[in-house]
Amino acid sequence: MRRGMTNGFKTILTVMTIGVSLSVGLASLAVAETSAIPAAAMTEAKDIFANRCSTCHGPGGKGDGPAGAALNPKPRDYSDAAWQKTVTDDQIEKIILEGGPAVGKSPLMPPNPDLTAKPQVVKGLRSIVRSFGEKK
Ligand code: HEC
Repeated sequence: MRRGMTNGFKTILTVMTIGVSLSVGLASLAVAETSAIPAAAMTEAKDIFANRCSTCHGPGGKGDGPAGAALNPKPRDYSDAAWQKTVTDDQIEKIILEGGPAVGKSPLMPPNPDLTAKPQVVKGLRSIVRSFGEKK
């Protein structure tokens, strides 16, 4: 009789624990979902980087694109971990959209106004810029 009650209580506890961990799990899934960049936007961002940005920034983000070498100031090396720490995600997204002068930098960094309507693609480009820093 006593034993039965204890077991019943244990069962209830187990069910509750599973319930709680399930909802915690679901909650973190939801968070991950909103911060994740959709695959289509990421593909577009990669295309844009390869076609538009790498001319100056180089395919590996080292600032060694064919057009970058002649620029003054030259685009910086994105793999520079020290620089990565000084810049916020918002600043990276702003310079991509509005160009160098918007953040007090060189006008040689062109704005990309066509991306205003594509915030996920801008986030994708920002994550590409960040990924060069992580490779070190
Ligand atoms: C015509 C050459 C050119 C192209 C094309 C170009 N950039 Fe730039 N970019 C620059 C230069 C030059 C700077 C450095 C500005 C400075 O240091 O004053 C810069 C700076 C930046 C920065 C800021 C780095 C810092 O020092 O804070 C980011 C981020 C960036 N570019 C991303 C991009 C992305 C993404 C693209 C493509 C959508 C792109 N750029 C296309 C020339 C270019």
